[in-house]
Amino acid sequence: MTANIINGKSISEDIRGNIAEEVQRLAKKGFCPGLAVVLVGEDPASQVYVRNKEKACHDLGFYSEVHRIPESSSEEEVLALVDKLNRQDNIHGILVQLPLPKDIDEKAVLNAIAVEKDVDGFHPINVGNLVIGDDSLLPCTPAGVIELIRRTGIDMAGKHAVVIGRSNIVGKPVSLLLQRENATVTMCHSRTSNMKELTQMADILVVAIGRAKMIDASYIKPGSVVIDVGMNRLDNGKLAGDVDYDSAKEVAGYITPVPGGVGPMTITMLMKNTLLASKRLGGLD
Ligand code: GUN
Repeated sequence: MTANIINGKSISEDIRGNIAEEVQRLAKKGFCPGLAVVLVGEDPASQVYVRNKEKACHDLGFYSEVHRIPESSSEEEVLALVDKLNRQDNIHGILVQLPLPKDIDEKAVLNAIAVEKDVDGFHPINVGNLVIGDDSLLPCTPAGVIELIRRTGIDMAGKHAVVIGRSNIVGKPVSLLLQRENATVTMCHSRTSNMKELTQMADILVVAIGRAKMIDASYIKPGSVVIDVGMNRLDNGKLAGDVDYDSAKEVAGYITPVPGGVGPMTITMLMKNTLLASKRLGGLD
């Protein structure tokens, strides 16, 4: 049996279509969601990500501002910019692209973003609300992972989900969101001793470890849902996930490809968060 492919690109396009329609409805009321992106320095990967966010804003009819400031900027300058954006009425979402230059305290900057404009979902108050199950802006990649699983039509309730990786931006929030869907969640990480035993019991397997093709067919329960958050550049220049796709797809029931799986969902969820934040701030929800 070959797995069904979970097509993140087409799911993403579907969601973006719905977002664009809603933006048009809001435009008739004279309202436009606005996103500000702050890029400090010239990291090449960050420049690509920021351009993609700018393009998504343009395509979906959002107002956008991109603040590209030099690598040499001080922490005070970045904080002053965040403060200005916090006060700006036409900006409903603020994203500071990470990583920041090493002399700038990332936590101090993320904590300075107004909670209701924190469309990355990285502010400790949004993280805390996620932990206790209160309403919050959800981190984009984890929210995208859950949406991809939902689109398989498989009910997560009562399923055994195994998450590999315990990062603050993927593994931990994914595990919380899976629990919110009533899955039973096991966390694995680099120090887990019996990882294969655990993953072989997973009805849902989410992999976010950052090691190319580490999870092959031998880790996978037949018929399960496999979500690959990995994005690794191979020596030959090609992209590969953390899952060995060619062998895994012969065992899994559903699987995300890389590229074209989780990747496209991250910006889509960012746009969804910005729309939500704008409606809340504008008193429109
Ligand atoms: N750098 C890489 N991924 C992300 C992300 O999701 N948000 C931000 N702010 N920076 C990133």
